[in-house]
Amino acid sequence: MMMNNLEYNSIRVSSPSNIAFVKYWGKYGEQLPINPSVSMTLQNCVSIFDIHFKELSDNPIENFQFESKENLKFKKRMNDFLISIKEHLPVLSKYSLSITCSNTFPHSSGIASSASAMSAIVFALLRFDNKDELSSKQLQKASYLARLGSGSACRSLYGGIVHWGASELDNSNDKFASPLNSVDPIFESLLDSVLIIDNKEKKFSSTFGHSLMNNHPYKEARILQANKNTHDLISALRDGDIKSFGRIVENEALSLHGLMMTSDPSVILLHPNSLKAIDSIKAFRTENQIDMYFTIDAGANIHLIYFEKDKNIILRFIRESLSSLCIDNKVIHDQYGNGPKVLSITKANFNVD
Ligand code: PMV
Repeated sequence: MMMNNLEYNSIRVSSPSNIAFVKYWGKYGEQLPINPSVSMTLQNCVSIFDIHFKELSDNPIENFQFESKENLKFKKRMNDFLISIKEHLPVLSKYSLSITCSNTFPHSSGIASSASAMSAIVFALLRFDNKDELSSKQLQKASYLARLGSGSACRSLYGGIVHWGASELDNSNDKFASPLNSVDPIFESLLDSVLIIDNKEKKFSSTFGHSLMNNHPYKEARILQANKNTHDLISALRDGDIKSFGRIVENEALSLHGLMMTSDPSVILLHPNSLKAIDSIKAFRTENQIDMYFTIDAGANIHLIYFEKDKNIILRFIRESLSSLCIDNKVIHDQYGNGPKVLSITKANFNVD
């Protein structure tokens, strides 16, 4: 008798979040960016997805647990996303999914969980259907599909420094991201300590945030600025020019918030403690001549970006001067990371009894 040992079909993956150095802000068409962006993939802030393949039913997702609890909102978002990309994922015409997932970082910490989660599910489903590691063409497909779930997720399919959006770089385009190949090794020692200044739910969805660029009076200037910052950042990364790198990273963070403050309606996401932290970081940098910079996503939390060589002195600075600005002194330490990986995979084909 032929039996399908469905219960043995499973895959467990981890996929990281990323922090943008040049920010994606504003989109057109089907989740395409109005400007190029450049990010660093993180190592410790990851989503872990455990997927069991079940008998096919009406919906791609049968069961969904996030951090050990059923989460209907998240389940619906994932289910709708999978329906929208079903034609590209043959595995979804054979099975429905039972998913258990969690993040290694706290909810509402200002670290993009949509980037790690959307890249994790797409990576897992393509990898399960494949005999071996994904080829570079298949990774491009994964990046393309993850983008449809959350724009910045397309950058999480690769480790290291990643670019997305049409720019002067070869093979750059709006549809999927690519790893940046020419990077001075000093940047592999980058660290990112996230100061948790505000842990409340995001005030608005990122779709709303991006829509603020549609009629923004500075839209054309922003597109020019992001293209120039991308060009200059890529040169700085290639040449090991740490000072230019830091100047661009901070310019991008403040430009993003400047754009939000000057849109209609205006949005202010910085907290008084974000500004205090920025002041302290600048003062400490000048006093100690240290390569330490900040970046900020669409929230109040500050990502402190520095290098392994200065780790001890900066960790002391964080403890003595910055952690008191954080909720419960909370700081999350992360670093330059490697991209998604398979933690385990079990495939049972038809079994003859
Ligand atoms: O991927 P989304 O739609 O969540 O947008 C991300 C926007 C920023 O985090 C502010 C910038 C970026 O490039 O990651």
